[in-house]
Amino acid sequence: MSETKRTIGVLGAGAIGSTVCADLVLHGFRVVLVDTDPAALDRARDVVVEAARFGPMLRPALPRSAPEDALAAVAPSADLTALAACEFVVENVSERWEVKEEVYRALDGVLPPGVGIGVNTSSIGIGRLAATTRRPDLVVGVHFMNPSYLKDTVEVMRGADTSEECMTYVRGLLGDLGKTAVVVGDFPGFVSNRISHLFFNEAARLIEEHGLQPDVVDTIFKRCFGHRMGPLETIDLIGVDTVTLTLDSLFDSYQDPRFQASGLLRSLMADGRLGRKTGAGFYDYGASPGGSPGATTNSRRKA
Ligand SMILES: NC(=O)c1ccc[n+]([C@@H]2O[C@H](COP(=O)([O-])OP(=O)(O)OC[C@H]3O[C@@H](n4cnc5c(N)ncnc54)[C@H](O)[C@@H]3O)[C@@H](O)[C@H]2O)c1
Repeated sequence: MSETKRTIGVLGAGAIGSTVCADLVLHGFRVVLVDTDPAALDRARDVVVEAARFGPMLRPALPRSAPEDALAAVAPSADLTALAACEFVVENVSERWEVKEEVYRALDGVLPPGVGIGVNTSSIGIGRLAATTRRPDLVVGVHFMNPSYLKDTVEVMRGADTSEECMTYVRGLLGDLGKTAVVVGDFPGFVSNRISHLFFNEAARLIEEHGLQPDVVDTIFKRCFGHRMGPLETIDLIGVDTVTLTLDSLFDSYQDPRFQASGLLRSLMADGRLGRKTGAGFYDYGASPGGSPGATTNSRRKA
């Protein structure tokens, strides 16, 4: 008799949500994947197929699955109410307070009592979002790294009201994905992005002020500091829009001019050069818009 699969909701199928969805299905979950943009749902299918094909080569601990089986475990929908049957929802909609606030109010009305929400945000306070719901004890920050299926650690943000029961559930879920939770407090940007977005922004400013090539900056980080990716490659992977919106949110929170997004980030965003997901950002990814999150940097040219 086949075991009934557990079902997790993934809300937002963009740069990170698509990889969280892939991670879950490769680990044997069913996923209800909700996004208002049908193109995002289509691109997420490609990410799931790519993760099934190449993920286990890049992260040997990742379970193997035929691409068609992985795809069969995803139920895509544009309708939020499709999430009502899930045991937990990971929210990954755009990093704008107005968007998230509206989504949390609606989601709270759709989910049965007792169902928790994992906030996959880059900078927004967990307590602030939790306060828009009637289940603040069940709202917890889960900051997945990109691409989720290749990463073994998640930054978990515990809000002031997050219950011990919710923390236990999340640790268990992450454990089922072969991940370790590093728990931090609830402050804007948490540990990872409060620090990383300062050097992302400075890297963009250096290019703007001194006309350096992106790969000069990235090479210093990789060769001299031993980072696997440089800051500009990382911005392209995350998304120029998400990084810029995160800087805006950090500036709103801290009023520190170091978080004022560089003009270059803003002009790339205005031009739709969002990085891998649009095929070009600081680098040009040729004919593969949507980007291959697991691909090496060999697949891109300087823009
Ligand atoms: N990109 C990353 O590497 C990364 C990593 C960790 C966390 N995050 C966070 O995850 C969230 C998503 O980031 P992203 O980079 O994937 O953004 P994205 O712009 O690539 O994707 C966001 C998706 O949300 C969808 N969306 C917007 N409003 C919606 C709504 N009301 N209902 C359903 N879907 C809606 C959009 O159509 C889009 O597909 C942000 O909060 C971001 O800070 C991003």
